[in-house]
Amino acid sequence: MADTVLLGTGSALPHQRVTNADLARRLDTSDEWIVERTGIRARHIAPPGMVTSDLAVEAASRALEAAGLAPSAIDLIVVATATPDQTFPATATKVQARLGITHGAAFDVHAVCSGFIYALTVADALLKTGAHKRALVIGAELFSRILDWDDRTTAVLFGDGAGAAILESRERPDGEGGSGILAATIRSDGRHGPLLQVDGGPGSTGTVGKLRMAGREVFRHAVTNLAQVMEETVARAGLSFADIDWVVPHQANFRIIEATARKLGLAMDRIIVTVDEHANTSAASVPLALDTAIRDGRIRKGDLCLLEAMGGGFTWGAILLRI
Ligand code: COA
Repeated sequence: MADTVLLGTGSALPHQRVTNADLARRLDTSDEWIVERTGIRARHIAPPGMVTSDLAVEAASRALEAAGLAPSAIDLIVVATATPDQTFPATATKVQARLGITHGAAFDVHAVCSGFIYALTVADALLKTGAHKRALVIGAELFSRILDWDDRTTAVLFGDGAGAAILESRERPDGEGGSGILAATIRSDGRHGPLLQVDGGPGSTGTVGKLRMAGREVFRHAVTNLAQVMEETVARAGLSFADIDWVVPHQANFRIIEATARKLGLAMDRIIVTVDEHANTSAASVPLALDTAIRDGRIRKGDLCLLEAMGGGFTWGAILLRI
């Protein structure tokens, strides 16, 4: 039996930090409103000329360094993004080329804010079949490029960033308990697509489009779907919430994180929160939060972490990971 174990993580943020007060200078909003409704205080925004693969490569390089590996050790790259550099080729193949890797396979996964959970699930399956040995899984987004900067109901919620994880397939010695990814669950329900979408695309308008969201509706679905998929994932591993050291949630809104925790009876001091500084970075949000908490020493080797996310589609999912 093979386990998919985590070897290292990395992340990257654009230099420019934009506060709520900065946004309030050009939009009819305020720091008080944004903090009270979302918990967001700041976000990082990419400069003109930066592309998604720039942040992806930076995060990947840090993850490789943390894992003590050269890029040549990687034979699978999966990038989760809804804001690729180009419609094609895949951002993953651009990352592959920039890391100097010419073997294995690289492709993108598109599940918006749940993208990293989907990408990890796909990589885990490919590693467990034995088809690949070591995977670089990245969530990278430049949501600033698909925001309508005149729409205060969405412009204040998102930011740019990237996070990466290196995973390896390892034979499990007889009689030992599992390590690494213990359970992964992905779900979707396409009926809710219009509630959170981009109003354009290459096959419809021929434009990139801008993000549109029915925030209140999305909020309601998010809490229900996340609580369900978290319960299902923990149960499938034969564990209970009492066994979990840390929850690493999608960082969309502090109130969603809090409401989900309350529904499941989880203490807030076991939940990693970075939404205040990163805002919602879509597919980058979970790996950014994971890397932040590993680097600041909160999440340690051996800890049991529950990763979760929900996004446009709707898509949602959870992963139980022994660090
Ligand atoms: N600044 C000031 N006022 C704002 C505002 C802003 N940035 N955005 C909206 N408002 C106003 C609205 O226009 C509305 O005014 P009105 O009552 O005069 O019409 C009022 O605030 C309340 O708006 P509403 O949308 O009902 O607020 P809310 O409490 O639902 O909070 C969200 C809005 C977007 C913060 C909240 O719905 C949310 O977080 N939803 C989930 C979004 C999300 O995270 N999605 C991603 C999941 S992947």
